[in-house]
Amino acid sequence: MENYFVHPSSIVDEGAKIGSNTKIWHFCHISSNVEIGHKCILGQNVFVAGGVKIGNGVKIQNNVSLYTGVILEDDVFLGPSVVFTNVMNPRSFIERKNEYKSTIVHKGASIGANATIVCGTTLGEYCFIGAGAVVTKNVLPFQLMAGCPAKPIGWISKNGHKLNMEKHIGICPETQEIYALKDGHLFLLENKLP
Ligand SMILES: CC(C)(COP(=O)(O)OP(=O)(O)OC[C@H]1O[C@@H](n2cnc3c(N)ncnc32)[C@H](O)[C@@H]1OP(=O)(O)O)[C@@H](O)C(=O)NCCC(=O)NCCS
Repeated sequence: MENYFVHPSSIVDEGAKIGSNTKIWHFCHISSNVEIGHKCILGQNVFVAGGVKIGNGVKIQNNVSLYTGVILEDDVFLGPSVVFTNVMNPRSFIERKNEYKSTIVHKGASIGANATIVCGTTLGEYCFIGAGAVVTKNVLPFQLMAGCPAKPIGWISKNGHKLNMEKHIGICPETQEIYALKDGHLFLLENKLP
């Protein structure tokens, strides 16, 4: 038995796989050959094209289109009107369906409202993209990006707190988890502050 929810105004094409406890709200279109995990929420007017994979616990706010080539891992958050792309140099009169580039959004990453992600980029685990940013390059895990083109403006913890880095060390004020910067990458250490 299906144990997910699809609002009657939405269309799910035959062959789409949807995990348990997922909710798909008004006016969405889920194409066939799509995989959506468990406990996801898709807000109003979300379009998911064929071949897209969405992990577990993903939240997608209103007005987002996920084009072929997009992969969202577990716990990704997409703000309202986030834009993905899949062709670098589109021309109306040239068919480029065989040139779709992929965009991978790794576990726990968040993308703010109205941000645009240029295709072919990889967004690292738990990174955070500010509202309205245009991401043109790969983003490192825990990196905080903003602007157009998006630039790194700091580091952010798993729980979404901007880290105050002192001597290459940052502490999440919510969880007391300790993060260390090494060779330009941020790592979550195993021990916490006592
Ligand atoms: C990126 C973000 C996390 C930064 O938050 P913050 O660290 O509290 O930022 P601050 O307000 O301290 O701003 C720091 C600086 O960055 C700038 N800034 C903040 N957000 C920015 C953004 N999205 N784009 C460009 N610049 C931004 C501020 O103007 C400020 O600049 P200044 O130092 O020149 O004055 C936040 O602004 C953001 O965009 N959140 C996403 C919200 C969202 O889209 N939610 C979707 C679900 S509703």
